[in-house]
Amino acid sequence: MIGHGYLSVIKMVEIDLEFEKDAVNIYTEFAEKVHDPKIKEMFINFAKAETGHVNGLQKLMQRIRDGEHEVKFYCPVCGWTVNFEKKPKVGDHARCRMCGVIFELIEIGGDYDIRRV
Ligand SMILES: [Fe+2]
Repeated sequence: MIGHGYLSVIKMVEIDLEFEKDAVNIYTEFAEKVHDPKIKEMFINFAKAETGHVNGLQKLMQRIRDGEHEVKFYCPVCGWTVNFEKKPKVGDHARCRMCGVIFELIEIGGDYDIRRV
């Protein structure tokens, strides 16, 4: 299933993608309309920066679709990273490499979460 465990993440990224695409269009339009070369350059640079955000978010979505995105959580005990690697299954276990506590990958309402074993 595409995006299994990422329901909220995908919704947030889709909303952000629309915002970033709008920003690219608006800054490009501003750049086309102004006559001052310095201000034109500023808006062109803003549009380029927003294009970078669009590209980054699209790559993130593709990595999730392709199962190439690692599922990680901050350890609720010590704050270190607990990594379930790529394409984990609900019920998989991972150990925090800092404090040694073991967690189970669970899914709640379409989103991955973890539970201490
Ligand atoms: Fe930990």
